[in-house]
Amino acid sequence: MTMKPFLPFLTVGLFFLGACGLEKPPASLKFPDAKSDAAQTAAPSAAPAATADVPADPKLAAGKTVYDANCGACHEAGMMGAPKPGDVAAWAPRIAQGIDVMTKKSITGFTGKVGNMPAKGGNASLTDADVTSAVAFMADKSKGAAPKTATPAADPKLAGSKALYDTNCAACHDSGMMGAPKPGDKAAWAPRIAQGNALLVSHANKGFKGKVGMMPAKGGNAKLTDEETTNIVNYMADKSK
Ligand code: HEC
Ligand code: HEC
Repeated sequence: MTMKPFLPFLTVGLFFLGACGLEKPPASLKFPDAKSDAAQTAAPSAAPAATADVPADPKLAAGKTVYDANCGACHEAGMMGAPKPGDVAAWAPRIAQGIDVMTKKSITGFTGKVGNMPAKGGNASLTDADVTSAVAFMADKSKGAAPKTATPAADPKLAGSKALYDTNCAACHDSGMMGAPKPGDKAAWAPRIAQGNALLVSHANKGFKGKVGMMPAKGGNAKLTDEETTNIVNYMADKSK
């Protein structure tokens, strides 16, 4: 039969097809365009910042050196949504996750709401300690008087809760997603506030299914303490009175 000689070719062909599919690189490893763009557009403006205010703390100063060489190209320009050191509002919800979390995400890389942060800023030769010091420098520059200026609330407990709210609750509550009441929407909050604070807090802590939808326990972040959730609820209710 004529089939026989063709069989090996067919097998080899299929093997290659399979191999090609496997060798497709994960999207997170591809970053050539962003890097060259970053170098072109950000280099002039990043250069002067490199000499400006070197932190007195030697650890932060070391972080600044790593930052200037590896991170400033995106972060100094706010390229593709990279949060700028010093932009207190952009950093507050990030810092609220904890520096450890931010550091880990910077080492492994991550895709967040605004864009893609490449592992170690795209420089694999940086040690974890280098990245850690750069993140410490960035966070230190960005904490400012953060919570106090970010909200009109004078009560520091409510102010700190804004950052937690931004990270854990805003995704649904700012947009009214699936019926989540927006802070500031007095009509939506009046009947809820009228139930009494204890029930509001317990609904937020344990989750509940109401008339309009489903509120997950602690907004889906089991790591929040009851006290943190309580403070966030107070912040939301305070904004909606
Ligand atoms: C190619 C551009 C680029 C480079 C280079 C870069 N970043 Fe980023 N980075 C981003 C973007 C974009 C985000 C925001 C991602 C989001 O939240 O959607 C980000 C976010 C971050 C965050 C916030 C993390 C969080 O949990 O919210 C930290 C910290 C950070 N970068 C540190 C670094 C450090 C340290 C370096 C240098 C070693 C660096 N970045 C280099 C683009 C970059
Ligand atoms: C996945 C979306 C989602 C997230 C995230 C979320 N919520 Fe909600 N939340 C809802 C929805 C939907 C409702 C309205 C449910 C109803 O009344 O039917 C609600 C209602 C509430 C209420 C009103 C309770 C009541 O008794 O009327 C409070 C308080 C609340 N959420 C607090 C929080 C807090 C605090 C967080 C963050 C820790 C959070 N939510 C995160 C969806 C969400």
